[in-house]
Amino acid sequence: MAYNLLKGKKGIIFGALDEKSMAWKAALRCYEEGAQIVLTNAPVAMRMGEIKKLAEACGNAPVIGADVTSQEDIDKLFTQSLEHFGGPIDFILHSVGMSVNMRKGNPYTDLNYAFTEKTYDISALSLHRVLQTAYKMDAIADWGSVVALTYIAAQRVFPDYSEMADAKSLLESIARSFGYHYAKKRKVRINTVSQSPTRTTAGSGVKGFDGFITYAEKMSPLGNATADDCANYVVSLFSDLTRMVTMQNLFHDGGFSFTGVSAEVIEQMEK
Ligand SMILES: NC(=O)c1ccc[n+]([C@@H]2O[C@H](COP(=O)([O-])OP(=O)(O)OC[C@H]3O[C@@H](n4cnc5c(N)ncnc54)[C@H](O)[C@@H]3O)[C@@H](O)[C@H]2O)c1
Repeated sequence: MAYNLLKGKKGIIFGALDEKSMAWKAALRCYEEGAQIVLTNAPVAMRMGEIKKLAEACGNAPVIGADVTSQEDIDKLFTQSLEHFGGPIDFILHSVGMSVNMRKGNPYTDLNYAFTEKTYDISALSLHRVLQTAYKMDAIADWGSVVALTYIAAQRVFPDYSEMADAKSLLESIARSFGYHYAKKRKVRINTVSQSPTRTTAGSGVKGFDGFITYAEKMSPLGNATADDCANYVVSLFSDLTRMVTMQNLFHDGGFSFTGVSAEVIEQMEK
């Protein structure tokens, strides 16, 4: 059901790779709620061509390639988006993450630091780069909203999440720190949404993902939040109904983060 919550709003959505992506579902929901959007992803990811289908489903949204580690690409993305919309934007979804060590199968106790820096750059510093670029260009309108997706490994240990856990801690910290400055400048709010494990390309890259997602499901009183649930939550954060929420890490996980143990897990342990 659509409520026109984003009628007249304009935004940039990072990270829609395929229809499983969190950003893919969010883009469709934002469009359904009346928003106009620009889609962006790394040029290499866009060559896979899937994003064109999403662009069509979102009213022929422009697709602008940008590697989030390249300042030149991010400058170009904002310049072209402002031109396209004829003015500032109202929201940004940062749905970007990649762990190079995880891809190479390196455990947390044997990290390659060049890979680690790359992981931090793509998965965390990129949020700062996006915000700093927008801030300098004055690209976000008053009461705009920025959301970045994160995971609870920033607060609790999930051994196979490797250096991505540290990247997510940094991402959440950047959202908080920049949230202060952007609220002062333009009343722009910046939050992170800490999502349940979800079957996407990035998610499934985590070792033992199947066991992990089932465990989370059993530990969450409401069950795991899906990518569709995440899209709904993100829409609410882009809407005018959540104007005073900023600098928060918001758990969107069916209650997982505050559950010590569940009846299902105890039952499993007693078998
Ligand atoms: N899937 C999960 O279980 C889960 C849980 C919590 C949070 N998250 C977070 O959600 C976000 C989206 O991930 P997803 O699960 O939808 O997976 P996904 O693989 O569909 O999305 C990750 C995106 O990051 C993009 N990306 C990687 N390197 C990039 C670069 N250099 N420049 C620009 N884009 C780049 C990829 O092309 C891809 O579109 C990530 O931040 C992820 O950590 C995922």
